[in-house]
Amino acid sequence: MDRYDVVVLGAGAAGMMCAAEAGKRGRSVLVIDHAAKPGEKIRISGGGRCNFTNLHAAPANYISQNPSFCISALRRYTQADFIALVERYRIAYHEKTLGQLFCDGSSKQIVDLLLAEMRQAQAELRLSTSVRSVERTSEGFALQLSQGAVQCRSLVVATGGKSIPKMGATGFGYDLAEQFGLKVVETRPALVPLTLEPTMLARLAPLAGVAVDAVAACGRTRFSEALLFTHRGLSGPAILQISSYWREGGEIELSLLPGVDLFEELRAARAQNGRQALQTALAAFLPKRLAQLVAETEKGPAHLADYSDKRLRAVADAVNRWRFKPAGSEGYRTAEVTLGGVDTRELDSRTMEAKAVPGLYFIGEVVDVTGWLGGYNFQWAWSSGWCAGQAV
Ligand code: FDA
Repeated sequence: MDRYDVVVLGAGAAGMMCAAEAGKRGRSVLVIDHAAKPGEKIRISGGGRCNFTNLHAAPANYISQNPSFCISALRRYTQADFIALVERYRIAYHEKTLGQLFCDGSSKQIVDLLLAEMRQAQAELRLSTSVRSVERTSEGFALQLSQGAVQCRSLVVATGGKSIPKMGATGFGYDLAEQFGLKVVETRPALVPLTLEPTMLARLAPLAGVAVDAVAACGRTRFSEALLFTHRGLSGPAILQISSYWREGGEIELSLLPGVDLFEELRAARAQNGRQALQTALAAFLPKRLAQLVAETEKGPAHLADYSDKRLRAVADAVNRWRFKPAGSEGYRTAEVTLGGVDTRELDSRTMEAKAVPGLYFIGEVVDVTGWLGGYNFQWAWSSGWCAGQAV
C-alpha cells in the first residue's frame, strides 16, 4: 500500500492550492480526482477567462451560518497574495467591473499555474481515480481507490459542491463528513437563475434576451447589477446574486430603472406631450420591448394626458417596485455554487481541520462558506486551501 503524508481528494481550485503548499513544506502529497482532467471548473469559469479573485474580497461577501468563520483564512491568504502569484506567472489580467479580476487570455492559465506549483512541490496527481472507501487507522487514514489503496496521515477533502453534476460534481464530501460524525448544513443551489410560474413566464416571453441594469432585493439584501430575461425566467448577475438569499415561497423586488424617479418623469412627459402613448414615454427609459410590455399590461388610455397621477404611480411602481414570487430555481444543473456544506462549527477556522477528527480537513466549496458572484468563491478556495496546506 502506498503511503503519503497527505492525500487531497479533489484536484479543483482548493485542492491544488493545498497540495502545492503542503508539498512546499516537504510533505509527500497525493491528489486524487475522479475526473479525467484537473481544474475543470476553473477552465469553464468566468466565460473561459476565470474571474480568479476580487479586489474587494472581505468576509461580508460570504454567506455562512457562521459569518465570522472565513475571517481568519481570508486574512492569512488574501486576494493580494493570489494576485502576486498570478503576476509571478506573468499572467495578464484586468478588472472587468466591481473589483472582479479576469485573465486577459484564458482560464487555462490558472489551471497551468496550479499544476506548475504542484510539480515544483512534487505533489503527485492521480486522475480518473475514484475513492471506494475511507477508514480511520491508528496512523491516519486508509483509502481504497478504484486502482489500489493508499494510506496517509492527513486527509484533505476538496471535492467541491453539487453544482453542475454533468461535470462530475457529487455529494461525496458531505457524505464523508457525515461518515465521520460531522454536521452538514443543508445544501441548496446558489448563484442560479430563477424560474417563473407558467402564466408569468408566458407574459414575459417576448422579453427573452432583453437585459437591463437593475436592483434585485430580497429582504434587506440588494444587488445592483445587470438582469437578463430568459425563456426560462430571470438570470444575469443581479438575479444570480439574489438567488443565494431567496428561499422558496419568498418574494423578490426588482427595480428595472434604478435611480430614476419614473413617476416624476412620466408626469413631466405628460405635461410636455400629452398626446404621446405611455409606451412611447416609457421607451425613453426602458428597452423598447420592455416598455411595450409594461404599457400593454397597464391596458390604459391611448394618450398619456388621460392618465391620472394614481395611474402613473402604479406604472412607475410596476417598473421600479416589481414584487413577485419566483417559482423556483434552475437547480444544480446551472447553479455556480452550492450553499451550505460542512458545518464550520466542526472546523478550526485557522487550519480547516475537523476538531473532532484530527488529520481530517475540509476546504473550498464543500465547507459552509459561499461567496457572492465576482471571484469571491475562488478566493475562498485559495484562502482555505492555503491554510490547510500550512497545517497538514
Ligand atoms: P471544485 O469543484 O473546483 O473541485 C472539486 C474537484 O473534486 C473536482 O475536480 C471534482 O472532479 C473532484 N471530485 C468531486 N467528487 C469527487 C469524488 N467523489 N472523488 C474524486 N474527486 C471528486 N467562482 C469564482 O470565484 N469566479 C468565477 O469566475 C466562477 N465561475 C464559475 C462558473 C461556473 C459555470 C461554475 C459552475 C462555477 C463558477 N465559480 C466561479 C465557482 C467556482 O468554480 C467554485 O466555487 C470553485 O471551483 C470551488 O473550488 P473547489 O476546489 O472547492 O471545488
